Amino acid sequence: MSDYSPIGGSKPHGLFGRRRLLATVVLGAGALLSALILAVHIVNSSNDKGSICSDCAGFKSLSPAFNKSLDHILYNKDYKMSVIDKLAGAVKIPTEIFDFTPSPSENPEAWVHFQELHEYLESQFPFLYEKAQVEKIDGFGLLFTWQGSKPDLKPLILMAHQDVVPVEPSTIDMWTHPPFSGFYNSSEDLIYGRGTADIKQLVISHLEAVERLMLDGFNPQRTVMISFGCDEEASGSCAAKIAQHIENRYGPNSIYAILDEGGQVGEMDGVYFAEPVTSEKGYLDAEITVFTPGGHSSVPPDHTSIGILGDLIVDLEKDPYDILVEENNPALETIKCFVKFGAIRDQEIAKLLSKNDLKKLGTALDDRLALKYLFKTSQALDIVSGGIKANALPESATVLVNNRIGMHSSVNKTLEHIMKHVQSKAELYDLGIKVLTGRSSKEEAAEVIKPATKNGRFVIRLLDPLEPAPFSPTNGSQVWDIISGTTVNTYKQKLFGGEDAKVYITPALSTGNTDTKSFWNLTRNIYRYSGSLQYNATNEHTVDEKNTGLSLVSGIAFMYQYIPNVDAYATDA
Ligand SMILES: *[C@@H]1O[C@H](CO)[C@@H](O)[C@H](O)[C@H]1NC(C)=O
Ligand SMILES: *[C@@H]1O[C@H](CO)[C@@H](O)[C@H](O)[C@H]1NC(C)=O
Ligand SMILES: *[C@@H]1O[C@H](CO)[C@@H](O)[C@H](O)[C@H]1NC(C)=O
Ligand SMILES: *[C@@H]1O[C@H](CO)[C@@H](O)[C@H](O)[C@H]1NC(C)=O
Ligand SMILES: *[C@@H]1O[C@H](CO)[C@@H](O)[C@H](O)[C@H]1NC(C)=O
Ligand SMILES: *[C@@H]1O[C@H](CO)[C@@H](O)[C@H](O)[C@H]1NC(C)=O
Repeated sequence: MSDYSPIGGSKPHGLFGRRRLLATVVLGAGALLSALILAVHIVNSSNDKGSICSDCAGFKSLSPAFNKSLDHILYNKDYKMSVIDKLAGAVKIPTEIFDFTPSPSENPEAWVHFQELHEYLESQFPFLYEKAQVEKIDGFGLLFTWQGSKPDLKPLILMAHQDVVPVEPSTIDMWTHPPFSGFYNSSEDLIYGRGTADIKQLVISHLEAVERLMLDGFNPQRTVMISFGCDEEASGSCAAKIAQHIENRYGPNSIYAILDEGGQVGEMDGVYFAEPVTSEKGYLDAEITVFTPGGHSSVPPDHTSIGILGDLIVDLEKDPYDILVEENNPALETIKCFVKFGAIRDQEIAKLLSKNDLKKLGTALDDRLALKYLFKTSQALDIVSGGIKANALPESATVLVNNRIGMHSSVNKTLEHIMKHVQSKAELYDLGIKVLTGRSSKEEAAEVIKPATKNGRFVIRLLDPLEPAPFSPTNGSQVWDIISGTTVNTYKQKLFGGEDAKVYITPALSTGNTDTKSFWNLTRNIYRYSGSLQYNATNEHTVDEKNTGLSLVSGIAFMYQYIPNVDAYATDA
């Protein structure tokens, strides 16, 4: 996933990824009241109010509608080795994606490993490839369609992506096992390699669960699709084309639900916290360039383009975005649940929550790096350049400001914040301002805010703008209840906590984006959630990325139940 983070902004895996926190679990009997009412229909009116869920402890186990191989998946050692082998084989194929990987039509050579992966998947899942329709979208996107018997039911979509972030060549020696070895150490139950955690595990898990159901004779009424993008770690254009293809075939609002990478199930002292991600922050890259006249550096003006840009940068950093804790932010729900059940032990936060003083809570959260960006827009000055020669004045200087837009904000409000500072510097140094959208001159649209002066101008290029994602339904949603009930049943198996396990389900917010950003038109029910057990040291995107065999098996077990549960229990149109 491209910098996904359900809770806690500094590490991809939030609380469970950082360190094991001591949990004090206090379970009030009242908290266990059942909230799982499967008879309740999805309220089709807009739920854009947000993610106010019922108590996170209030979900009951959903007895699986089909469970033929469930025990086999969970407990058979040969089976476990067979799926670990399948994952290891996929990890061995280095489907790295770079920010500037040329498209397949520009340079097919850059995509040979994706072709290899396609052939590998077909060799590993022959039954699925025979039984499902398999489409290659725009070169290397993969879309599988397992046709249900009732075509009027909205299809279910499972997503993941085939690409992985590159391995930095200078770090290869630092890996315990080579990054594309897929090495499995059985005494640690760890599979090593790029993609074991992000996110080939989910590629294998989706295909495996579906093929297992096929082999077991399960025939869905509702069509099940699996969508694998090929450049999620870059632009996500591959998944965008798949989404378009699906919309062309089925129309808008035609999908029952989408499950993609994102939240998992964290464990602390035998207590399980599931975090389906129900929304994502927005996005905006602003590339700001100052153009000024050049000349000999022995007679410089008071401020070169670099100096002016520096002045702007200082002002931007001195003016962080405001924090705002709103009742409907899913992250508030996560924090409430974690505080109540001991996964966050923070007296001050606990006190403010009990008073429901959201304003003071915001002030307190603003001091906590791991939490604050769930409630505000972030700005990171990520790339800077300017100047080429010691004796020549720089004719331009550029900075790229990366913004992750808070739930209460928007692309426009973020742009306003940036423009406020640019305008004040344009005033001070008497410069013009032009705003561009789009990456290349071919696609760009330009707006001149202030004509260039003899001193030059600012040019602001807006890249990849994305509004914060709509909130996916939770409270009162049957879709949510089926996900939750299936999760509870999975983690009450004796491989995990057993019958008495505490399993809590809470909506969560991601500070990063997934391929689902292109799927909003297809359904409101988008959950970035795999149901798999989270390993706390996956090292995603860095040296020694790894994952446990147990995590793989748990994900398969969840999905193997989830598909038939949707088929049996969902009552939507
Ligand atoms: C992960 O959890 C294990 C216990 O389950 C603990 O021993 C280990 O220190 C944790 N590692 C990290 C990096 O938090
Ligand atoms: C599968 O379902 C049967 C019948 O409901 C039940 O007896 C059995 O315990 C279930 N097995 C699992 C693993 O859930
Ligand atoms: C497997 O892991 C164990 C425990 O960390 C370690 O002692 C052993 O050397 C590892 N085996 C290999 C082949 O790396
Ligand atoms: C953003 O601002 C522009 C220009 O002011 C306006 O045309 C556009 O409708 C706004 N977009 C939204 C989503 O408010
Ligand atoms: C959840 O939805 C139910 C109706 O489905 C409603 O009665 C209840 O007030 C809602 N809870 C919250 C916290 O919004
Ligand atoms: C969603 O639908 C709207 C209206 O038809 C369209 O303008 C927009 O491009 C679509 N979004 C995506 C991501 O396809």
